[in-house]
Amino acid sequence: MKIVVLTGAGISAESGLGTFRDQDGLWTKYDLEEVATPEGFVRNPALVHEFYNARRANCLESFPNPAHEALATLERSTQHDLTIVTQNVDNLHERAGATQVIHMHGELMRGLCAACDARWDAPATMLPDDPCPSCAARATRPDVVWFGEIPYHMDRIADLVAASDLFVAIGTSAEVYPAAGLVELARGATLELNLEPSARTNAFDARRFGPATEIVPAWVAELTG
Ligand code: OAD
Repeated sequence: MKIVVLTGAGISAESGLGTFRDQDGLWTKYDLEEVATPEGFVRNPALVHEFYNARRANCLESFPNPAHEALATLERSTQHDLTIVTQNVDNLHERAGATQVIHMHGELMRGLCAACDARWDAPATMLPDDPCPSCAARATRPDVVWFGEIPYHMDRIADLVAASDLFVAIGTSAEVYPAAGLVELARGATLELNLEPSARTNAFDARRFGPATEIVPAWVAELTG
């Protein structure tokens, strides 16, 4: 079976990475307009780097949890063909052993030059005056997608979802598009796995609620027998 899983911050919550919109979520502590938009970066690049440096540090001290591990197990199973499309900028899917991972909102661990589009492995701390390793311009930024920017790999993701037999959304509030609209492209079965109903829960054929570390391994165990 061709399976596409869309993941959001909820799958990494139990690894100690904050979600965005839950009580105590990142967007209750930080102003999204200041730290996650191109305009905010122009106004105050040091603040934006500080925000992503802190998130990179948090990611580096965290570990994949049983939900990430279950998806990596599913990818290894020969019965199914799994692609993970993630909104997360952390690297916990890869550290759990998954290899077919598409980062639609970019990656914390990569740097991007706004002048020449070069990309490289980001150092733990990025600063506004860091020169680009390719062109030396002082225009380096984390390789993450901000509000107002177009998510990466959208054509490929849309094709994968449309061709899937099963589309599963895990740990996402479905408040942010285009990710929240992917369920509409699915022609096969659809399933939501989340702590609580998302904004789009009624768009799914089926839904299960609970912590990702419990419901994802249970679902994978059912699929792999
Ligand atoms: P949100 O913070 O909006 O939603 C997290 C979802 O995870 C909520 O539906 C929670 O109920 C659920 N959740 C929390 N803890 C969970 C757990 N232990 N197990 C299972 N589910 C749990 O995060 P996203 O939907 O990922 O974009 O947010 C989407 C995008 O908005 C992010 O990629 C980011 C953000 O602003 C950008 O920065 C561009």
